[in-house]
Amino acid sequence: IQTRLVLDRDFVISELDRRVFGALVEHVGRCVYTGLYEPGHPNADAQGLRTDVLALARELGVTIVRYPGGNFVSGYDWEDGVGPPGQRPRRLDLAWQSTESNRFGTDEFIAWCRAAQVEPMLAVNLGTRAADAARRLVEYCNHPGGTELSELRRRHGHAAPHDVRFWCLGNEMDAPWQIGRKPADAYGQLARETAKLMRQVSPGLRLTACGSSNRELPSFGAWEHEVLDACFDEVDFLSVHAYFENPHRDSTEFLGNIDRMDAHIREVAAIADAVAARRRSQRRIMIAVDEWNTWYKARFGAHAHQPDWPEAPRLIEEVYTFEDALAAGGALSVLMNNADRVKLACLAQLVNAIGAIRTEPGGPAWRQTIFHPFALAARHARGLVLRPVVRAPARSGRTVPDMPLLVASATHDPATGATAIFALNRELVQEQELQVELRGFAADRALAAAFELHHPDLQACNTQAQPDAVAPRSHVRVRVEEGGLRAVLRPGSWNVFVLQ
Ligand code: AHR
Repeated sequence: IQTRLVLDRDFVISELDRRVFGALVEHVGRCVYTGLYEPGHPNADAQGLRTDVLALARELGVTIVRYPGGNFVSGYDWEDGVGPPGQRPRRLDLAWQSTESNRFGTDEFIAWCRAAQVEPMLAVNLGTRAADAARRLVEYCNHPGGTELSELRRRHGHAAPHDVRFWCLGNEMDAPWQIGRKPADAYGQLARETAKLMRQVSPGLRLTACGSSNRELPSFGAWEHEVLDACFDEVDFLSVHAYFENPHRDSTEFLGNIDRMDAHIREVAAIADAVAARRRSQRRIMIAVDEWNTWYKARFGAHAHQPDWPEAPRLIEEVYTFEDALAAGGALSVLMNNADRVKLACLAQLVNAIGAIRTEPGGPAWRQTIFHPFALAARHARGLVLRPVVRAPARSGRTVPDMPLLVASATHDPATGATAIFALNRELVQEQELQVELRGFAADRALAAAFELHHPDLQACNTQAQPDAVAPRSHVRVRVEEGGLRAVLRPGSWNVFVLQ
């Protein structure tokens, strides 16, 4: 099949906020313990941080990390996780029915962020706690000194403030499974008052209110409207959470999740703008897609909870397939193509629990399939996002009526002159002959890099025994021509072309 992509240097959606390459680290299963942190592991540093995982996080190119949850935060007392490790309490974690040792807490997380060279984003507990605990945590983290809480931090060995700028006002407070779930108006008011106190302690914070935990809940839409109605002036972002499932066990249908996420983002932006319109406000609430990924194979039943309150159990350890990597590649294009509203996004999650990175306790760490599109996009997507005009045949699915077989996005970095094109061939049987027309660019540009992520088996996985079964290769069937580029995209492939 033949497809066409037109890009014009002057047709810009927005500057790309590099915080769209964020990830979630939650106290769930083995994400933290035996994931990020494993004292005694041959690769652990003096603080117990796994340097092999740190190296992979840097290679992944993750820019901001949200912590400590997720559902976990709604029952978390942050005070349990600071101070001398030997004196920290062991607690029941009701969100994941596990035992939490609290050996790893806020200060260790900040140390991990500094080592990984990522920005921290903290969530406050608005489930079992409220504004006061949140403002105390902000003071502990961000106040320079001279008060009880800032001096406590200093006594714990952190003289300089942690200086955390991005915060989440709770997590999924609409969700039936959430600890301390609240009605929309009650949550909206709590978010507003909490935001005010947090900003009084530390001006300049960037705050995210909870949107719906998923688009399928009956309250979706009404929740966003009511919450924003209550806290519109106090928050910067509303969250979107999008987990891809495959109820029909049908690969083509599965890749329709990409379009559903796109619709979800646009719907939430429309609701936020409706709230603004009713107030005659020019203010625009931005969107934080602060949980997105594929998650269905290791989701329910035994994968979700284990009896006997185990410590760091093997929970929700989704093994990602090649087809999941295609979905991730397409989703990254959706995030880029909504760059005017999506200023932050987090792959959920980073390690082990629905993680891009897998580890074995005492053993190796390796890249799951979804690691690869994320790493390539994080490395090459820079500067301005160009509006992609796609001409491609479409397919109708059961859940999405009109799915173009080409999903594409592109960035152009005026500072370096590099243009990066990301192209998913969603046609799973036939090759795609892609013609890219580049308007307004110098004619003499050359191909600086080209990659292809493809595997003949859509269900192929990366495992401890075969960690590189699915990995990108150089793209060889591509040529630059005057005014554009031509490439042959294999059936079911995700591709990157960089021109300079
Ligand atoms: O990422 C796993 C869980 O999914 C998070 O804890 C929660 O916020 C969402 O329901």
